[in-house]
Amino acid sequence: SGVERLGDMIAEARVIVPFTGAGISTECGIPDFRSPGGIWTRNRPIPFDEFVASQSARDESWRRRFAMEEVFAAAKPGRGHRALASLYRAGKVPAIITQNIDNLHQASGFAGEHVIELHGNTTYARCIGCGQAYPLDWVKRRFDGDGLAPNCTACGEPVKTATISFGQMMPDDEMQRATALSQACDLFIAIGSSLVVWPAAGFPMMAKNAGARLVIINREPTEQDDIADLVIHHDIGEALGPFVGN
Ligand code: OAD
Ligand code: ZN
Repeated sequence: SGVERLGDMIAEARVIVPFTGAGISTECGIPDFRSPGGIWTRNRPIPFDEFVASQSARDESWRRRFAMEEVFAAAKPGRGHRALASLYRAGKVPAIITQNIDNLHQASGFAGEHVIELHGNTTYARCIGCGQAYPLDWVKRRFDGDGLAPNCTACGEPVKTATISFGQMMPDDEMQRATALSQACDLFIAIGSSLVVWPAAGFPMMAKNAGARLVIINREPTEQDDIADLVIHHDIGEALGPFVGN
């Protein structure tokens, strides 16, 4: 079966780089973006330039974030996260590339410097002007006080979750590290992503072009199934469950 074949490929690989999307966290209660019921089936994305230009867009953005707070706060790593953490502890996975913002790879045991967050992190906030970090509690107190998304106390620019919105610059350092890792692995495993959002969706192909084997695990077909060496159309928890060690 596909899962047995994956086991062989994992056993044969020396350097494995996992690349994750929202599908790895759905079993943790966090909705993905494009499945039925997904975030973008319920809400239109707020592009970065709109966030910058409009107080009401910023207010709406923070309303959405706080509406999700219980879900993020309660989420624990799932079987997929735990399987990848086992391979990391075994020395097979040097670091992980993720589009996710939920902090669950860190919670599963990856050191922070080994989680390359292409789209940032939603568990804290940052000023979009000077980069000053703020805890979400600080934003919540201000927002609850006057109903307005707050600005930075240092420079006056808007404070935003430390995530990347559409139209916002990708983080340089993360892009460079993800590029180097993709080109240095011999097995690249794309997990739970529709592989439609660029430039993130370019890493599987980059790994493949540099000589790695490419595995895609996703319950639905993805945009890039045709370039993969192995495609597993299966539930991630089921597919990776056998690799959860201790
Ligand atoms: P998507 O919602 O586009 O894709 C998630 C994929 O995971 C879907 O194809 C689902 O079928 C699959 N899936 C969900 N649960 C699964 C499960 N338990 N087992 C197997 N497959 C499952 O999410 P991403 O590809 O992560 O970026 O989205 C990419 C980017 O688009 C996000 O990082 C975010 C979003 O807009 C920004 O906002 C910049
Ligand atoms: Zn600032």
